[in-house]
Amino acid sequence: MVKASAPGKCILFGEHAVVYGQPAVACSINQRMIVELEEETQFDSWRLDGAILNLSKHPHIRFLKDKLWSEGEHPPLKIRIRGTVPPASGLGSSAALSVALVAALQQLRQEELNPEMAGLLSHQAEAFAQGGRASPIDTTTSALGGFIVLSDTIEDSLDHIGERRLQHQDEVTTWQLHSFEARIPEDTYLVIGNTGIRGSTSKQVSKVAALLAKEPERKVEIEAIGSIARKGIEALRTGNMELVGKAMTENHIVLRSLGVSSPELENLIKAAARSSLGVKLTGSGGGGCMIALTKNPEITIGAIEMEGGRGFITRFNTAGVRIETLSSQDNSEQ
Ligand code: PMV
Repeated sequence: MVKASAPGKCILFGEHAVVYGQPAVACSINQRMIVELEEETQFDSWRLDGAILNLSKHPHIRFLKDKLWSEGEHPPLKIRIRGTVPPASGLGSSAALSVALVAALQQLRQEELNPEMAGLLSHQAEAFAQGGRASPIDTTTSALGGFIVLSDTIEDSLDHIGERRLQHQDEVTTWQLHSFEARIPEDTYLVIGNTGIRGSTSKQVSKVAALLAKEPERKVEIEAIGSIARKGIEALRTGNMELVGKAMTENHIVLRSLGVSSPELENLIKAAARSSLGVKLTGSGGGGCMIALTKNPEITIGAIEMEGGRGFITRFNTAGVRIETLSSQDNSEQ
C-alpha cells in the first residue's frame, strides 16, 4: 500500500485581479487531502472507496491513468480518498487531491517523489477536468507548499521558479510562477471561516468581466489590487504582520467594491475583524471562505462560529506534497 498527502491553499492577495495579469499570492494550509493506493487482487479494475471507479465522474483520475500507463498496462488498483479540505469552498481541494494522487501513483510505480512533476501533471489533470482552463496556482501551492506568486510577468524581487503554459483551442496562456520566504512570527495564525455556501468561480469571474466592460474606468481597482498584493508580499517578507493585515483588509475593500463579496462573507468578516490584524474573502467569493490574520485564533474562530460559519486554524509554511509512512497518523489533520 502507498499513501501520499497534499495541502489545500488559500489566496492571500490578488484574486480576480490575477485574471487581468496582476500578481496573486497563495499559501498552503494545514488541511490536506490524502490518497491511499493498494493493488487490487479480487477485481480486474480500478475501485474508488470500495465501488467500481466511474472514470467519467473522475476526469482527474482518468487523465492521470492514461498519462502514466499505456492502454491495458495499468495494474488493478484500490483508491481511497479522504482529507480535511472542504470541497467547493475555494481552498483548492480538487488540486490537492490531484497532487496527492500523482505522488501516490508515482510511488506505486517506484518513482521518487518529485513535487515539481506532481505540480505539472496535476495542473494538466485539473485543466483536463475543467474543460481546458485552470490556473496553476492551486496545484503549484499544493505541490510545493509555502508561498507561491502567480503573475503574467517575471517579478524581479521574487524567486522565479518556472513558467506554465496551457493551450486551450487556439489560445495559449502563459503564467510565471514564483516563491518567496516569509518571516512569520510564531504567534501569528490564519483563521479560515467557511460560509458553507458554494460559490461559483466562473460566475464571479464573469461578474467582474461584465462590470469592467460596462465601466472600463474601474480597471484602476484591478490595478489597485495589484499594488496591494505587492505591498502585502513585501510585508510578509519583512515579517511586518500589522502591514500584512492592513493590506488584506484593503484588498477586501476593493473586492467588495467589485461586487464579489456576499452578505454571509461580510458577516463573518465583520465578526472576525475585532480580534484580527486583517480580514478578507479568499478565492472567487460570492460564498466560500474568508480568512483572518490573527494572534488570537481561538477568539477569532469563536466569533466566526457565533455568526454561523465554520472556523478553523492554519499555520503558515505548511509542507507541500509528501509521502506518508503507513504507520504515521495524519497529524496535520484538524
Ligand atoms: O475560489 P478559487 O480558488 O477558485 O479562486 C479563484 C481565483 C480567481 O482569481 C477569482 C479566478 C482565477 O482563475 O484566478
